[in-house]
Amino acid sequence: MPEQELPYEQLIIQKIITETPDARTFVLQQVSGIPYTYKAGQFLTLVFPRPTGEQRRSYSLSSAPGLDDALAITVKRIENGEFSRYFIDHAREGDRLLSAGIGGLFVLPEDIAAYRQLFFIIAGSGITPAFSLIKTILHKHVHLSIVLLYSNRSAQDTIFYDALIELAQHSQGRLIIDFLFSSSNNILKSRLNNSLLAALLSEYGQARPEEILCYTCGPVDYMDTVSITLLTEGIPRSNIKKESFVSYVPELTELPPDTEPHRVSIKLKDHTAAFTVQFPVSILHQAQKEGIALPYSCESGQCGSCAARCTRGRVWIAYNEVLTDKELDEGLVLTCQGFPIGGDIELEYE
Ligand code: FES
Repeated sequence: MPEQELPYEQLIIQKIITETPDARTFVLQQVSGIPYTYKAGQFLTLVFPRPTGEQRRSYSLSSAPGLDDALAITVKRIENGEFSRYFIDHAREGDRLLSAGIGGLFVLPEDIAAYRQLFFIIAGSGITPAFSLIKTILHKHVHLSIVLLYSNRSAQDTIFYDALIELAQHSQGRLIIDFLFSSSNNILKSRLNNSLLAALLSEYGQARPEEILCYTCGPVDYMDTVSITLLTEGIPRSNIKKESFVSYVPELTELPPDTEPHRVSIKLKDHTAAFTVQFPVSILHQAQKEGIALPYSCESGQCGSCAARCTRGRVWIAYNEVLTDKELDEGLVLTCQGFPIGGDIELEYE
């Protein structure tokens, strides 16, 4: 079966802004396709054609929908990172990029009115999606107060340092920022650990644990420490959202309860596709073999780009770093790590 034409759009780098010695913001203009709509906290997946096949990388949007005129991503240099090296050292205004679209679940929940306070617990370039969310909350959800705990090496290495201070100054006390600098002489407050986070939660917390929503983004170990502490301090698991920038191939630790082949029917925007999936080939990878273009980015259960809703049957997910229990209960599944079990299934993309 021939490969379907992939729905890539073209973007032009309109402007490059230096944020820190190692980070730049790229303001982008869409030159083809239907104009993007997006939610604060989501990311853009870029496609880089290579002789060995296409490579995809996702970059969080630092712009806020409805508040910033254009899309913008902010990229930090990664040691030995081929694509970050392009962005930091070689990208020029006027360069064209290929986009596979916008996705991600690090967004505000539908029931945002049920919360009173948000904590953003962020390290380094993890600020990118948080910056978009903070701007959106300050403008659109005036009943919410925000605490940002933001870890960096120093003020000079802190992305959006001045912009955040300005947001806080104009927030009438709704945005409190505590910058933690690892270069600080005050060792009690230089690096976030369990006891410091617990102390900061009790210092700044102004609502009952169920009314506090927490967003964390940074290195995996950092987010693990944050999650464990939040749970210990009584924040419900469903109120903790994590976004990982680091992609790694998860090890398969168990087999699905059913490894028989089953039919998977997927409702896409304007048509339905059906094919048979059998472990160990995931739903996404079988779709790719059949020439059916489904959204994806990391392929390893960590970004949420491939999330679809299961409307019939059951999907076993080998590895999931991104969907909360609530989202799983609502039927969301990851096709990159998902296998049909117990019979045929139906999925749909919204
Ligand atoms: S493609 Fe990233 S979670 Fe599936």
